[in-house]
Amino acid sequence: MKTVICKKSQLFEGPLLLVNRRHPLQKTAAGELSPVNENHPEILVERQMARLLSACIQAAGGEREIIPVSGWRSHADQQRIWNETLAEEGEAFTRQYVAPPGCSEHQTGLAIDLGKAAPSIDFIRPDFPDEGVCGTFRRLAARYGFIERYAQGKEALTGIAHEPWHFRYVGAPHAQLIKENGLCLEEYSAFLRQGPQRLPAGPWVFYVPCAGGETEIELPDGCCQISGDNAEGFIVTAWGNPA
Ligand code: DAL
Ligand code: ZN
Repeated sequence: MKTVICKKSQLFEGPLLLVNRRHPLQKTAAGELSPVNENHPEILVERQMARLLSACIQAAGGEREIIPVSGWRSHADQQRIWNETLAEEGEAFTRQYVAPPGCSEHQTGLAIDLGKAAPSIDFIRPDFPDEGVCGTFRRLAARYGFIERYAQGKEALTGIAHEPWHFRYVGAPHAQLIKENGLCLEEYSAFLRQGPQRLPAGPWVFYVPCAGGETEIELPDGCCQISGDNAEGFIVTAWGNPA
């Protein structure tokens, strides 16, 4: 067992950040960005996520039919998208489908909008159906660490309409826990606060509330990942026995 100290600033780092209107982004991106794949060098996402997204698209047999539409956005990009959508579609539509600048998880580099290949793909609401390779991708996504971030029925919690094209990378253990328990990311920290979770033949996941400027976390031996939740605490993933 070992003890590590997490500084308060680490609350705002890691793959499990919750970013929404109530929890604006505190830093620019979650990690190193890289092109989503060689066919779309202009679309950037977090590096590890790019690898897993390609693997999931390949496993679904969707290399030709699944098109990345929007990945990492700067604050200025999100502001421009907000302004343009507001001008073209009005306020009600914009609030449903575009996060206010500073509150979009696209700004973390951990979100991707995917569309089905077509002569013209809508940038704000790309078609990503449940049939064919898109449906296969959707069913495989959690295994590769992705969640459907804006699910039907969770609109009151996410503040965003159902977006079947928007996937968020959180890492496989978390995507599986979130999917199996029917949660949205807004509900995940509270769920983990009920107690540690163990995935079958997988890691432990547990929550440690932020104790102030410095939080002591006891980690079991073995590989561990600590991510802030951009709110009140740290989510620990431990590939060993519980501390
Ligand atoms: N479409 C999502 C909510 C965004 O703008 O971040
Ligand atoms: Zn999106």
